[in-house]
Amino acid sequence: MASRLRAYIGTLRQLEILLAVHEHDSVTVASEHLHLTQPTVSMQLKKLSDALGTPLYDQVGRKLVFTDAGNAVIKTAKEILESFELLDMHLADLKGLKAGKLRLGVVTTSKYFVPNLLGDFCRLYPGIEIELKVANREQIIERLMEGLDDFNVFSHPPLDQRISLHEFLPNPLVAIAPLDHPLAKASKITFKEFTHYPFLIRESGSGTRHAIEEFMKEHNISLNIRMTIESNEAIKQAVISGLGTSILSGHTLAFGGRDNICELNVAQLPIKTNWHLAHLKAKRLSVVANTFINYVNTIGRNRLLKVLHTK
Ligand code: PGA
Repeated sequence: MASRLRAYIGTLRQLEILLAVHEHDSVTVASEHLHLTQPTVSMQLKKLSDALGTPLYDQVGRKLVFTDAGNAVIKTAKEILESFELLDMHLADLKGLKAGKLRLGVVTTSKYFVPNLLGDFCRLYPGIEIELKVANREQIIERLMEGLDDFNVFSHPPLDQRISLHEFLPNPLVAIAPLDHPLAKASKITFKEFTHYPFLIRESGSGTRHAIEEFMKEHNISLNIRMTIESNEAIKQAVISGLGTSILSGHTLAFGGRDNICELNVAQLPIKTNWHLAHLKAKRLSVVANTFINYVNTIGRNRLLKVLHTK
């Protein structure tokens, strides 16, 4: 084996560190996520770059700019780590663990990506049967507090000490309008301008509505609400028909289609939120539930990010 390649073998952890720094675009933030000190992270990256004989990134002011070599290493590192994760799951499977039921209760908006997540999971674990319940945030909170499911998926989980949360995907809330809207071509729109137009909003109890209301409160703005509609798809159709603008999860476009709709470039948007898997701390996770959470944190999450980056 070429001696340079031998350097990779001792550096799986370094590859993980490199990916974290790349993902968070910051050594400091990556160190916090990895529970390592900043000097340790910097030193491991230096070792990796010395072993490979090339710089992986340059620090330009506060920004990290990855070199071509750095980007090539990142691409390969993702493939290597994903293969190891798959191997790990196959080995566990060979030990005969993976059969049983997985119960999920998810909020309406997550139905755009949950099937995508479950597709690969079911192919990997054909012995696992899935029960999926879809409802709005308020109803899913009730299920969570009653411990009815293995996991609940929210981007706005309740703030409660009894709940354990695992963040796994960004959920940007974006402003949308029909293609012929007066603001459609504007390159910069102030929030005030945006609020002059009629607005379509999800029903109360919806997490999307909750996030919009919190945002409005924080910025001391009010919306010109024309209609309350109980479904993301119905809101999209109403927007296309010229009934108003709205703010919805970007996933309703990325996974649900963006024909005849444009995203508006409104200052302060998107509202940045994240998807979480939630369960009661007191609820012991089954082998199947643990398998699912490991899958989401690794392969599942990477697959979703790949789809989001290509749409
Ligand atoms: P919703 O919830 O589908 O009820 O709007 C989405 C969320 O929790 O962000």
